[in-house]
Amino acid sequence: MNFRKPKGTKDILPKDIYKWHYAEQVIRDVTALYNFSEVRTPTFEYTELFKRGVGTDTDIVGKEMYTFDDKSGDSLTLRPEGTAPVMRAFVENSMLNDAPLHKLYYITNMFRYERPQAGRYREHTQFGGEILGSDSFYTDVELILLAKEVYNRCGVNNFKVKINSIGKPDERNAYVAKLRDYLKDNLAALSDDSKRRFETNALRILDSKNPGDRTITDSAPKILDHLGTESRSRFDKVVNELTKLSVNLEVDFRLVRGLDYYTDTTFEFVSEDLGSQDALGGGGRYDGLIEQLGGKPCPGVGFGSGLERVLIVAEKNGFTFGEPNKPVIYFISLNDAARDKAFELIQALRKNNIACETDMLNRSFKAQMRDANRLGVKYVYILGEDELNKGKGQLKNMSDSSQSEVEFDKIAEAIS
Ligand code: HAM
Repeated sequence: MNFRKPKGTKDILPKDIYKWHYAEQVIRDVTALYNFSEVRTPTFEYTELFKRGVGTDTDIVGKEMYTFDDKSGDSLTLRPEGTAPVMRAFVENSMLNDAPLHKLYYITNMFRYERPQAGRYREHTQFGGEILGSDSFYTDVELILLAKEVYNRCGVNNFKVKINSIGKPDERNAYVAKLRDYLKDNLAALSDDSKRRFETNALRILDSKNPGDRTITDSAPKILDHLGTESRSRFDKVVNELTKLSVNLEVDFRLVRGLDYYTDTTFEFVSEDLGSQDALGGGGRYDGLIEQLGGKPCPGVGFGSGLERVLIVAEKNGFTFGEPNKPVIYFISLNDAARDKAFELIQALRKNNIACETDMLNRSFKAQMRDANRLGVKYVYILGEDELNKGKGQLKNMSDSSQSEVEFDKIAEAIS
């Protein structure tokens, strides 16, 4: 039997894990600078949460969820996205009673049954941020700046922020009626997907990738021209502030996003360094979601970003993610008694926060030396019969090959 990982998943091996640790540390550092706190929610939720939160007409809920009945017959779904679960936790734990404003972030895996391709997986890792409790336009700006800072610190500089506003629900409904009115004369020429969407979710026709659909929608009415004064002025403030801060922006009427909870601002970070899956991240406001999930009315805004995609672009740019962890000192033993002593000494050094390694394969002196070189340690400490008798081993500095005798209890001192 030859086992393979499920389609669309990946193994992250030790040779690459340090890049993940680096990016995760950047996220933890930057979110701390912006005063965000981490939140962790379960890997699976009751299916109803996503149907309610994300919307039954969306691709995620309609086609992509990993849904199953557990042994008690409850329908559960592996988290396909982070916002609905975080809002569920926010409401269930009455977080609004603790403080009027919450800034939350997460780094976690998401599951979507999608067709795998470069940058698109069935299990991906997403980091996201959500600001709950304020409808100030500064919160939209702050999230975009936070994501931008994370990207920049991971060596990702070549991207732009596409931005749009889809208004309040009543403005949007009125606009969608105008859009459908415009599209109905071209219905026969639309792709099958868009014909279907004309009935279920006409707004999504705007972000169709089909060239014919795009030609038709190029001259469609634009939602920005159909917003109320308040929504329009809000959008202008977000754009002005981001422009003032030199964020590379592009207003894009096609950016309606694929999840149903958005209101007002929508945005996406896109990079040419990614292939057809060009979204590094995306998000927007969702001022009605918390109420929809049973909470008190509370505004919210957030974004999510695929960590794999950040790493793909960073690697393409030749970014250096620091170095993998490696031991500082390697103990070489020439007989069993020395091996026993080495094992004892390395435990003491580890208690002193010194990373050590020793041979566990009964290898020859030469092979142990090769192992030490492969690991790139700074020092080796050699123990044989003589050394055991004297209570002193040979400490070799690998950078200049200098060697000296060092007593067993002086090793930490000698290498610090
Ligand atoms: P989303 O646009 O569906 O939004 O996903 C956010 C990001 O996750 C995408 O831009 C992409 O970088 C990454 N991503 C999504 N699906 C995949 C996949 N199959 N493989 C690799 N990466 C993927 C959301 O999920 C919203 N919850 C974001 C949000 C938070 N909006 C408000 N708050």
